[in-house]
Amino acid sequence: MKHFLSIADATTDELKHMLEVGRCLRDERDAGKANAPVLAGQTLAMIFEKPSLRTRVSFEQAMIELGGHSIVLGQEVGLGKREAVSDVAKVLGGMVHAVAARVFEHQKLVDFAEHGGVPVINMLSDESHPCQALADIMTLQDEFGADLAGRSVAFVGDGNNVARSVAILCGKLGVRFVLASPQAYSFESAAVKQIRADVPGIALDLIDDPAQAVKGADAVFTDTFTSMGQESEKQARLEAFKGYQVNDQLLSHAADHAIVLHCLPAYRGVEITDEVMDGPRSRVFPEAHNRLHAQKGLLAVLMGGA
Ligand code: CP
Ligand code: NVA
Repeated sequence: MKHFLSIADATTDELKHMLEVGRCLRDERDAGKANAPVLAGQTLAMIFEKPSLRTRVSFEQAMIELGGHSIVLGQEVGLGKREAVSDVAKVLGGMVHAVAARVFEHQKLVDFAEHGGVPVINMLSDESHPCQALADIMTLQDEFGADLAGRSVAFVGDGNNVARSVAILCGKLGVRFVLASPQAYSFESAAVKQIRADVPGIALDLIDDPAQAVKGADAVFTDTFTSMGQESEKQARLEAFKGYQVNDQLLSHAADHAIVLHCLPAYRGVEITDEVMDGPRSRVFPEAHNRLHAQKGLLAVLMGGA
């Protein structure tokens, strides 16, 4: 694995290894021990075209805890506007050891990876959010054990970047993935084709009935109905997603042991209720904290050769 632009860039063994390394580093930290400085002398540059709380803080903190440095850049870089993406990549590639970027168009990451000469990490694009999926799966492992084969995930809501990455990772680990969304917001046929090509044999169901989706699920995921950059579609989306809120009524169809995940930020009272977010099934804050631990696994492997 040279880059981490999509879950499909890593083999199943590499994904399991990154998660295992992340959990070991977390165990050390929980025991009050410092992690070995495996990234000493290395710098990660981060570029954000969109806002972030969890991704920015977890990457910066991960670099600190692994003995490295990070540089955070925002809109001022003007990726593809002030300067060609390939030129930014060539400049940064000669100064830092890896680059992570949060972009609107996924193609910018592909161009970056082609020209930078250093590992590139996707911190969210219009297509995918693979770092989020790693943390989500780590949260499932915390609940159900490291081997998740045979488990089942229901994603209720938008067939968006997060849903696509979680679907691919689930497929690679033998976890069934059911997306319940209005038909117009399900995975597009090109995305389904890509997912099936990335993970032949994936157990993937696309339906429109949230109650049917949560039946038999070990975990129920949701995310905002309106992602960053889709603000002009907000009203139409709120209309289309009526009936897709993750609330106690919907969860009455789920197994007693089913947990609830949300990548955050959450719009409380829209896609998820306060009762669920703050209730006994919720694992949303451990999930957010796992962004740190899962990314430490990723960085230790990609930059530190763990
Ligand atoms: N879940 C997530 O990526 O959060 P941020 O947008 O705050 O980074
Ligand atoms: N789907 C959301 C995820 C935010 C972390 C978005 O792209 O805005």
